[in-house]
Amino acid sequence: MQAWKELQAACESCQKCGLWTTRNKVVFGTGSTSSPVMFIGEGPGKSEDLQGEPFVGRAGQLLDSMLASIGWSREKVYIANIVKCRPPSNRDPLPAEQDACMPYLERQIELINPKYLVCLGRVAAMRLIRPDFKITAEHGVWYDFGNGRKIMALYHPAALLRDPSKRGDTFTDLRLLEETVGSF
Ligand code: URA
Ligand code: SF4
Repeated sequence: MQAWKELQAACESCQKCGLWTTRNKVVFGTGSTSSPVMFIGEGPGKSEDLQGEPFVGRAGQLLDSMLASIGWSREKVYIANIVKCRPPSNRDPLPAEQDACMPYLERQIELINPKYLVCLGRVAAMRLIRPDFKITAEHGVWYDFGNGRKIMALYHPAALLRDPSKRGDTFTDLRLLEETVGSF
């Protein structure tokens, strides 16, 4: 896919926001570019920045087991982030950084054309669903994303590591996700 390769090359040399100055690797995304489901986190952490792949640290290992619990894997879905370079000391990406990076994600969504989008955590949900999105009240709820797409948010796996009492709700959300998407 020529357009995809060009997009990836553009990201890899991008200097559109200040995050390029402190990054080691751009984290473009990983998985199947023909998947009906795309997962979107907030931005690379330390391990992701070093390896150039999303969700490879501790939170990523939990994401892998969340996917496995419904018979999915990271190879079967596509995984990306709101910003493709690591925010220093894992702070939330600034609005200007998100604005600068979003066109890449929008293009990835256009090219992959998934029917379902899953936000991992509050930052992605506030950007992609609604600025006043409340993760505690609204996780596991499907919203309309336009162009025939549906979107929901799950708790971020890092939040589940901090507060294991949220895992039961996430298991319920994952079951709903699996049921809605069906086999692929
Ligand atoms: N957290 C995220 O939001 N994204 C990653 O890729 C890793 C951790
Ligand atoms: Fe470019 Fe996005 Fe990296 Fe900023 S975060 S430098 S916009 S790829």
